[in-house]
Amino acid sequence: MKIKRIAVFASHNGSDLQAIIDSCRDGKMDAEVCCVLSNNTDAFSLQRAKDAGIDSYCVNASLYPDSDELDRVTLEILQQHETDLIFLAGYLKKIGEPILKVYHNRIFNIHPALLPKYGGKGMYGINVHKAVIEAKEPFSGVTIHRVNAEYDSGDIVAQAKVPVLPQDTPETLAARVLEREHTFLVETLSKIVTEDINA
Ligand code: GRF
Repeated sequence: MKIKRIAVFASHNGSDLQAIIDSCRDGKMDAEVCCVLSNNTDAFSLQRAKDAGIDSYCVNASLYPDSDELDRVTLEILQQHETDLIFLAGYLKKIGEPILKVYHNRIFNIHPALLPKYGGKGMYGINVHKAVIEAKEPFSGVTIHRVNAEYDSGDIVAQAKVPVLPQDTPETLAARVLEREHTFLVETLSKIVTEDINA
């Protein structure tokens, strides 16, 4: 389907979110970020959304201990903003069944490694890069995949390689991968928007 309105779920620094906002505003991508959701009240991503004049929401289990209620509220926000597609950019919670159903095939996640390796529960943030370096991999990279009920296991739609250098620490590798994410996610989302990748 034609994708115009992207909801971004971002619970951390939000540099990936920023890359999406900027590419829409610069006209590199014919779409817009319609809302930003976070499960973390302190996320800088919420500030970035505010600065860009985009409606943002914190939705989490402290506010909605009942998971059905949490899904209902989330879905309501998404529908209020006429969301076509959900992009997870630094969001660690599983997506509830009702949302997976309504947005079937239209939820994507970005992961900072070459899945199927270095994914799954506990494989997030610096843990991923530590594991890649410990395994002496010559390459790491970026994966964009569809989201299903399990962590990091939906269909892979695009991957980009990033070299691991002999002197790398988890932090230097993380920085190189993140930099690549910013360009690669825009390239890939653009293909989804132009329907070269179906959603
Ligand atoms: C990125 O590394 C992304 O791959 C992962 O979470 C991180 C988000 O970074 N899912 P930021 O908050 O967008 O800077």
